[in-house]
Amino acid sequence: MFNVIVVKDYQELSQKAFEVVKGVLKEKESPVLGLATGSSPLGLYQAMIDDHKKNQTDYSKVITFNLDEYVGLPREHQESYYTFMHHNLFDHLNIKEEHVHLPSGLGDLEENSKAYEALMANYQIDLQLLGIGSNGHIGFNEPGTPFDSLTHVVTLKESTRKDNARFFEPLKEEVPTHAITMGIQSVLKAKKILLIASGKNKAQAIYNMLKGPVTPEHPASVLQNHPDVIVIVDKEAASLL
Ligand code: GLP
Repeated sequence: MFNVIVVKDYQELSQKAFEVVKGVLKEKESPVLGLATGSSPLGLYQAMIDDHKKNQTDYSKVITFNLDEYVGLPREHQESYYTFMHHNLFDHLNIKEEHVHLPSGLGDLEENSKAYEALMANYQIDLQLLGIGSNGHIGFNEPGTPFDSLTHVVTLKESTRKDNARFFEPLKEEVPTHAITMGIQSVLKAKKILLIASGKNKAQAIYNMLKGPVTPEHPASVLQNHPDVIVIVDKEAASLL
């Protein structure tokens, strides 16, 4: 079931998303957050950092699981999701490194996928944050991914590599061709899901997610089957609704 909130701009989106996160942090002694990368959550992460500084909001008991990681990038690579999360969030909170989890895109990927899923089985994610790809992907679950998928290795679509090229261009590097991602079934296990999207290039994906048929061709459409999904979109991302 969707609760759709349309806001005027990215700043309001980030503020509203922060209120949802804060609600979960307040509710639970040891909350489990599923986190996402990309540009969409940056404003939310900044709001969490500002709040932590101002109000000393405690993250020492917070546990996190990230959605995905590129294959082949060492952790310390500037564009690895490990580094992204540390630079943009974890380094600025009092979260414990041993409470932070991302799948590893190095070494035996089959083994890593199984290990990540086994680790997650010990918890239930209270709030899973999601962005959405312009082709409707969630995490790195590209169109065509079966709905019963668990953590697995994916070949990135050319359109996704193009969308993400802006991060790698300054380094004069190519976007990796593969990634490891929580599967669709793994994502759906979360108690509550918060999906955020801004900008015109997300409008079609948002339309398909909310109004289209539930089909693996539009991975986010599977969220129609989840009992508790908050969608926060700006006017542009909501423009086709
Ligand atoms: C990335 C990530 C997704 C993210 C999406 C949108 O490739 N794997 O988790 O939600 O694509 O990214 P952005 O927020 O930068 O538009």
